[in-house]
Amino acid sequence: MAAPWWKSAVIYQIYPRSFADSAPRSDGVAVGDLEGIRRRLDHLVWLGVDALWLSPVYRSPMADFGYDVSDHCDIDPLFGTLDDFDRLLADAHDRGLRVILDWVPNHTSDRHPWFVESRSSRDDPRRHWYVWRDPAPGGGPPNNWRAAFADVPAWTFDEATGQYYLHLFLPEQPDLNWGEPGVVEAMHDVLRFWLDRGVDGFRADVVHAIGKDPALPDDSPEAALLPKSSTNDHHSTHALLRDIRALLDGYPGDRMMVGEVYLLDTAQVATYYGAGDELHLAFNFPPLYTPWDAALWRQRLDEVDRHVTPVGGWPTWVLSNHDNPRHRTRYGSEARARAAAVLLLTLRGTPFLYAGEELGLEDAEVPPERMVDPGGRDGCRAPIPWEPGPAHGWHGEPWLPWPPDPDRRNAATLGHDDGSIVHLYRRLLSARRVSPALSLGHLEVVPSPDGVLAWAREADGDRRTVAVNFTETEQTLTLDGSWEVELSSDGGAGVAWPGRLGPDQAVVLRPA
Ligand code: GLC
Repeated sequence: MAAPWWKSAVIYQIYPRSFADSAPRSDGVAVGDLEGIRRRLDHLVWLGVDALWLSPVYRSPMADFGYDVSDHCDIDPLFGTLDDFDRLLADAHDRGLRVILDWVPNHTSDRHPWFVESRSSRDDPRRHWYVWRDPAPGGGPPNNWRAAFADVPAWTFDEATGQYYLHLFLPEQPDLNWGEPGVVEAMHDVLRFWLDRGVDGFRADVVHAIGKDPALPDDSPEAALLPKSSTNDHHSTHALLRDIRALLDGYPGDRMMVGEVYLLDTAQVATYYGAGDELHLAFNFPPLYTPWDAALWRQRLDEVDRHVTPVGGWPTWVLSNHDNPRHRTRYGSEARARAAAVLLLTLRGTPFLYAGEELGLEDAEVPPERMVDPGGRDGCRAPIPWEPGPAHGWHGEPWLPWPPDPDRRNAATLGHDDGSIVHLYRRLLSARRVSPALSLGHLEVVPSPDGVLAWAREADGDRRTVAVNFTETEQTLTLDGSWEVELSSDGGAGVAWPGRLGPDQAVVLRPA
């Protein structure tokens, strides 16, 4: 049986507010929209990605920029209409691009009609769709769980009904109670709504958090120092995921769910694949938080091998997203960002790109008066510069400042420069597509000097070796057999493998 599409795919994350806009707005502030994305699909086809994932475009009061959903089955007017969505989906499909949507199952907006009803009275039929509790015996929150973003309790007191409600994120994002059958059914209906419309799958937001210990016990004092959203790991989530998996698998066409399992432990993440009957894919974030260091990256590869592979899980790799400083910024140089691209796109598993990383974008420096995100994540959400100045292909001054050097670092300018990082991404994607070894093959780490990580990939007799120098000095690497450079992070290609790697250089080698 052929592997499902999502195993060999490269998935491209779009943060819709910041990708591309289609028209000037009356308030003059440029914000990306669905039609803007549709008009830029050529870039994704040219680059060679297989699928795009849209961060939330549903109706939302935007307290968390769309991760606070007030209507799961409509598009926020800021982004367009359902017709715009259908057009984008059809155009993407026509071009061979799959589309996956963000699905936010753990919480809704406090303005969602479900929560408005739930908070209206203790007797409301939807009261238990959310997690309400009396104050602790001496007063105060029912337990010691902490919210994300700010060091505050995960509980807010509702004066009108005299109880606290749970929110692992902002008070404007009350947690749904997945112990309530009505919630399960309603959220399944949301999935069906979009599956029926033709989407290829979902990225499920903080999906490890949906099942909670019904006793809501205090966390240990150490655990209570961390946001509950990064530690909640209750067994009840697994049964919920099995039902969701069955729902997706009941549709034709390999619909897929990748879960944001924000537990910084690969062994825990691996449990969310179930026995091949829970998530199709799970994000594994420890690599994202790993510095540019060969020995530490080796450990991350080993952890995946030890925990994900034995459960039959297919790994995922992510270096940047809308929640963290971009890896170009974290690693500190373009040479490293280029070598990191080789790493990301040649490991065993499904890579996720974050829009703009193919341009080598750095985070924007956002002055305090322009900061808008409660989680301090504005820098990585800067708009994509499409062209040299002054508007960079947008229709007004965007909602966030530009990333550094947009006159040079934009899609058009880099696209004309064969040696630029965007061409490196394009070549990597095309090398993956034609090589069974790179897209689906086994991976075996091969011996290398300190500071270098090298691995062999193999499938159906097709072979590649990849080597990454994580140091700022030249390194020698001796390999069995004779090899030639298929591509190099610094642009070189087609030469016999010289047995040496320059500073922060990465190469893909094929048998000579
Ligand atoms: C996830 C999202 C993040 C959001 C949070 C709450 O971690 O990636 O952007 O703020 O969930 O929905």
